Amino acid sequence: MSSTGRTTPWQAITVSAAEETTARWLASTRPGDLVVLIGASGAGKTTLLGSVPPHRVVSLDALRAGVSEPGDQSATPDAAVLQHLLLTMRLRRGATTYTDSTSVDIHHRAQLVGLARQFGVRPVALLVGTELEVCLQRNAARPPATRVPEDEVRRQHALALAAVATLPGEGFAEILHHRPA
Ligand SMILES: Nc1ncnc2c1ncn2[C@@H]1O[C@H](COP(=O)(O)OP(=O)(O)O)[C@@H](O)[C@H]1O
Ligand SMILES: [Mg+2]
Repeated sequence: MSSTGRTTPWQAITVSAAEETTARWLASTRPGDLVVLIGASGAGKTTLLGSVPPHRVVSLDALRAGVSEPGDQSATPDAAVLQHLLLTMRLRRGATTYTDSTSVDIHHRAQLVGLARQFGVRPVALLVGTELEVCLQRNAARPPATRVPEDEVRRQHALALAAVATLPGEGFAEILHHRPA
């Protein structure tokens, strides 16, 4: 950020902890939470989740690869079925869970919040607010099989930005904002 105090769209959000380091956002979650990461492709969701035990992460990418090959978008409906089953079983047990998918679609988030509430679990939103240019650069640097079209990154990023305004009314118990340095 420049010394003139330029503000980015992400900085408009009101969050429980403004400058979240990984340690701080982890400390803001509790055992048994459903932590829903939100961010465009390349925002750094999977990297951020590298600091939590891998068995607690339900990753749509991994499930897609489980039913097909990495990056096969046609496998998304099957992967979504598996994701729902896994989440249902984990939340029923009260197992702490992190979702690693973009979750930029407000309807997808509503399903996750609904599932959490159904099992008496706290849904926590973790918005990964990385600038569009960074997401685009990282996406472009990916191997072709896991790269998504540039327009799709732009679409996801716009939806993630829109979530800044809607998240407070979406039923999450807590909203965390990770703003990468
Ligand atoms: N904080 C960071 N600093 C530098 N590079 C990062 C950071 N977070 C992620 N990356 C890199 O950006 C790329 C995309 O990150 P990734 O976590 O896979 O994003 P996402 O899961 O949101 O699509 C990866 O190559 C990763 O190594
Ligand atoms: Mg990822």
